[in-house]
Amino acid sequence: MITSTSSALPVASLSILDLLAMKKRGEKISCLTAYDASFSHLIDQAGIDVMLVGDSLGMVVQGKKTTVPVTVDEIIYHTQCVVNARQRAFIIADLPFLSYTSKEQAIDNAARLMQQAGCQMVKLEGAHVETIQYLVDFGVPVCGHLGLLPQSINQLGRYIVQGKTKTDADRIIDEAKRIEQAGASLLVLECVPAGLADEITSSLSIPVIGIGAGIACDGQILVLYDMLGISIGKRPQFSKNFMQLATDISDAIKQFRQAVKQQTFPTSKHSY
Ligand code: KIV
Repeated sequence: MITSTSSALPVASLSILDLLAMKKRGEKISCLTAYDASFSHLIDQAGIDVMLVGDSLGMVVQGKKTTVPVTVDEIIYHTQCVVNARQRAFIIADLPFLSYTSKEQAIDNAARLMQQAGCQMVKLEGAHVETIQYLVDFGVPVCGHLGLLPQSINQLGRYIVQGKTKTDADRIIDEAKRIEQAGASLLVLECVPAGLADEITSSLSIPVIGIGAGIACDGQILVLYDMLGISIGKRPQFSKNFMQLATDISDAIKQFRQAVKQQTFPTSKHSY
């Protein structure tokens, strides 16, 4: 059961301005995925800044092989669960595969994620700058996602590091700049060389959150079940099992937060 641990005034949740201020003052942003109320409560109480209701839920919660089958209804259900138990963390929800193929479809689904589910921002994969601009024009805060795009796994063939050639790296840099210009407030960079992530992070004013993107990013995100060592199959090289030295789940999440804030995670072992 989730029981209230505080007798003080309710804590206000973080806003995009708080995340921007963290980038400006050089405080790293700690982020984890979350899919249900009990973990949401633990993550929130541990002081994690951002919770992402990612379509990774298709793999770690539903046991599917990829994120491709995840639906908007499923993201809404899990976002509601997470929102119900959070007090402080900023909440982002994923627009799943093929739920933003037109501007109109994107705005309809973003409206559902924000109004029915209660997230504060939506995330979409790829440099769909016109769609991003359209969402932003109507007041929807957007998080971009570049580098490895898991929703495109059937085009990629396997989950591999992106941006290794100069052409690829230049393309990702250009896309990152266009996503910022389109009005996105945040950018996730997944599985790219640390040097490339460093260059992108220093050239953008919006916070860049890395996963397998090295230490220079403005923040770090991991899939919760990977960092608890309970995912099915092999943990990605860029992740770390924080349960190994922890006394319990809450302690593991606190250790992750501290490692991000003190910049002891990721190390070169977790980077490309
Ligand atoms: O769905 C997800 O969990 C994500 C993270 C890997 C960033 O998009």
